[in-house]
Amino acid sequence: MAIDYGDREKSYELYRKGKREGTWDPDDYDLEGDREDWAQFSEAEQRRFLMTCSGFYDGEEDVTRTLAPYMMALDALPNEEMPFDTVQEEMYLAQQVYEEAKHTDFFSRYFEEVFGTQDTAPYREGGYQEQGYSTDDLYDTADDLTAAIDGGDRTELVYALGEAYLNYMGIVEAQLARGGYLSFDQMIELKAEEMGRDVVLESFQAAIGKVRQDETRHIENGRWILQQLAEAEPDIVADVYEPRIEAYVENRLLADPPFDDQPFDGYERKPIAKQITQYLQDTVDYIGADRFERYGDVRATLEERMAAD
Ligand SMILES: [Fe+2]
Ligand SMILES: [Fe+2]
Repeated sequence: MAIDYGDREKSYELYRKGKREGTWDPDDYDLEGDREDWAQFSEAEQRRFLMTCSGFYDGEEDVTRTLAPYMMALDALPNEEMPFDTVQEEMYLAQQVYEEAKHTDFFSRYFEEVFGTQDTAPYREGGYQEQGYSTDDLYDTADDLTAAIDGGDRTELVYALGEAYLNYMGIVEAQLARGGYLSFDQMIELKAEEMGRDVVLESFQAAIGKVRQDETRHIENGRWILQQLAEAEPDIVADVYEPRIEAYVENRLLADPPFDDQPFDGYERKPIAKQITQYLQDTVDYIGADRFERYGDVRATLEERMAAD
């Protein structure tokens, strides 16, 4: 036994929390009521809602398929030279990959039984994955990670891990997915209001609540590892984290959205933009804002960038 399991780190505590909170089953939700609600959505509303859901369905599959090299990379690191225990983190990720599979499972079932299709392509056309930062990038970072494992250089491996965690947990989960939840919240709330109901798509809401709870743990673990890697290799912040954040800011936060027609009456992008800016600040703060040259204060940098454009 290589480690002392009595000395529990953040990742191990999150793994234990996941055992208590994360054991829900997508098959347990009755989707009959959701099917009836869905029929009340207009064609334009269905299309808009399906665009976000398709990004999630594909994205959950993407995260499921690309997480395995992270465990291999952690195992290739010299544990005793790292500021955290790589084995406890491997255990955490073993749980995470199961949860991501379950999220894919939920969307698969929902598409089949409520939306009546398995085809996401028509709803992703012209979307974010064609114009910039998206979950497609996860395949490249996973490949880079595999190459760094084979390369055998410790610093390069830590850099590749930092890039991978920043992309996966720092941006795909903490930014893209959470922005999507805020969008779901608004669409569902506005539709319920229009129909004079308290809630529509009740099972969707309940299951997505579980997905969100899982993702909160994934994000917290990811931020913690990003901070640990910055402790191991302080230059990683300037060399890896900031350029990756810059690419995201350029492609997503400062870019015009690919779809500007919004069929849900009263939908507002502004509060969502404000909230996801705060999420990015939270990630920066967790790693340590004073380690950052340009993104220590996210909002100030964004304002500066917008004024310059
Ligand atoms: Fe997920
Ligand atoms: Fe996740």
